[in-house]
Amino acid sequence: MNKKELIALLPLMKKTNPENYYIINFLLDAWALILVVDKISPKKYKAEYNNLKDLYDVLAFSMEKKELVPCITIIRAIDFFKGNTSPFNSCLLQNVLTECDNFMYVNIYFRAGIIIKKLSMYHDLSSTGAFGYSPNIDLIKYLKLLSSNLASETIIDLGSGNGLPVCLFSHIINDVTGIELKESLVEESLNTIEILSKQNRINSKAIRITHGSFYNINLSRYSIIYICWPFDNTEKHKHEEEMKKKLALKIQQESKKGTIIMVYIPGMNEKDIFPQFKKIRGIAQDYSTAFCFYIIS
Ligand SMILES: C[S@@+](CC[C@H](N)C(=O)[O-])C[C@H]1O[C@@H](n2cnc3c(N)ncnc32)[C@H](O)[C@@H]1O
Repeated sequence: MNKKELIALLPLMKKTNPENYYIINFLLDAWALILVVDKISPKKYKAEYNNLKDLYDVLAFSMEKKELVPCITIIRAIDFFKGNTSPFNSCLLQNVLTECDNFMYVNIYFRAGIIIKKLSMYHDLSSTGAFGYSPNIDLIKYLKLLSSNLASETIIDLGSGNGLPVCLFSHIINDVTGIELKESLVEESLNTIEILSKQNRINSKAIRITHGSFYNINLSRYSIIYICWPFDNTEKHKHEEEMKKKLALKIQQESKKGTIIMVYIPGMNEKDIFPQFKKIRGIAQDYSTAFCFYIIS
């Protein structure tokens, strides 16, 4: 890997409308590893590197060779930056990151935070389900399909976790609320918002984070409600059904006509979280089992 090849990575970082979900996800993971490569133990590095290689093998099985070029280049970049922390290379890395758009940067920041365990990846939360973060690439893509005037929408993330969706929403929506029950996640989100705001990577003025239960916040002022569904296994079926009923009733009572509800459903099972609401179709043809979209009529 030489300087020219590294510079050639820059256009990849500028890609704002990712078309290939799998490749972009791979690149984000790889950049996250580059970012923390000198902050983790050799064992952790090896595990992360092997994960990427495994992911690459899966991609290589299904993609055309030319689509894989960015992945191969970035694997070589990881090798290059590993143990190569001269001021020149650190400066080069900073230059590459400066070129990266805010959407990519925020994603990389969160993934890097997870690798070094500064940010949470998963918490089992007993009766309130589990914390896990959203498949962030699709979120913005779908929001753009759902509204032609996003800047004037008001959005709330019910159960905002450590804040990745609210950070991303702030790039395109000026009124963003996150409400989260688990205090440590609220703290993580507030710290991260402060850091990313100082780096001018998010619009923190747009974001409000509240610590508390989403059952206690009035939903009438929100034109879009986002939920990353906290249940992905059948063991908590009773709690899941209870949350479905309680939330549906609350939304029905408080939300205005025309409010959009976007739900991401983790896991393999197809679920219709709010069958009582009108579905919006034709948004997520390719990942239809993972997302549900509704409109209050
Ligand atoms: C699957 S996580 C999603 C986190 C975040 N929205 C994201 O997409 O990255 C669901 C979150 O909902 C939170 N949660 C569950 N019940 C809640 C409630 N009643 N009020 C507020 N937050 C709740 C959990 O603590 C968890 O952090």
